[in-house]
Amino acid sequence: MSSSEKSRKIRKIIIFYFSGTGNTQIVADLYEAAFENYDIIVDTLPIEDVIRNVPDFDFGKYDIMGLGHPVHAFRPPSILFSFIENLPRSIDMNAFLFKTMGDPLFYGGPTQEIRKKLKKKGLHVFHEDFLVMPSNIIIDYDPQLKKQLYLTAKRKINIYTLEILQGKQKLQPNPGYLRGMSRIFGWLESWGAKYFGKFLHASNACNKCGRCVKKCPTNNIQFINDGLEFGDNCVLCMRCVYTCPRNALKNKYMNFFMIKGGYDFKEAITNGTISSDFITKDTKGYFKHFYTYLTHELY
Ligand SMILES: Cc1cc2nc3c(=O)[nH]c(=O)nc-3n(C[C@H](O)[C@H](O)[C@H](O)COP(=O)(O)O)c2cc1C
Repeated sequence: MSSSEKSRKIRKIIIFYFSGTGNTQIVADLYEAAFENYDIIVDTLPIEDVIRNVPDFDFGKYDIMGLGHPVHAFRPPSILFSFIENLPRSIDMNAFLFKTMGDPLFYGGPTQEIRKKLKKKGLHVFHEDFLVMPSNIIIDYDPQLKKQLYLTAKRKINIYTLEILQGKQKLQPNPGYLRGMSRIFGWLESWGAKYFGKFLHASNACNKCGRCVKKCPTNNIQFINDGLEFGDNCVLCMRCVYTCPRNALKNKYMNFFMIKGGYDFKEAITNGTISSDFITKDTKGYFKHFYTYLTHELY
């Protein structure tokens, strides 16, 4: 059955995602819940759990594939490209993409490269979305803004889910300047990721619980001679830094990149006393441009 025939009868969806610090996972879970409202069976899997055995994955069971990732320097993190490389050829399935980022600026970068790579594997991207989530680097957003972004994502995902089920074609613009910018920032990010990982170290607060070792998506952290060693495969996802219960991971040169005191999103979502009207049409200053994202579709 061809991908267009399959999309008419959607019964089962596979969603793969990468999420360094939980934002994209929350979004993937929102998609899952929204599809399940239409009695569709959804399997949702983090890519690091399947990256090696994805060539043997049974794609035939599914009618559509979703793929989600955070934006790192206006591009997907490198682990996403490794995942796509490992996919078998000729899957022949329609696909939708979603990405999360801390700022609606430039749609979080172009999607052309990822679309092209997926096409080589027989995946036809017909729908693309972006959801703004709290930034997990440098500045910690106000809890009210975190909640506002979460509720906005939930509302938008309900709309997008219906669009996907109706087979609506919705692809973001990929102008040349965005592609050029993404190439430059991408190069800087891959260089930065390598050195960020290399310059990580455990402070005296580390009690060797091994949480960072277990959670690293690229197995880049190991106990060697009773101390933590960091390899060359860091993807700068920040998971190890924020997963440490003692806030013990520090960076020799790039501590400014980490949110002091850690990154937490779930508290803002679940705490009923936190309101969600941080940004309004009268907002001035840096967050002013978020208002359009909160109230409109940007493509
Ligand atoms: C290395 C790195 C680079 C980032 N670059 C961008 C960026 O270019 N634009 C942006 O809006 N957000 C950027 N962010 C913020 C994340 O995209 C955002 O917080 C995302 O929702 C995190 O998702 P996750 O928790 O699933 O990893 C960056 C985060 C990291 C760790």
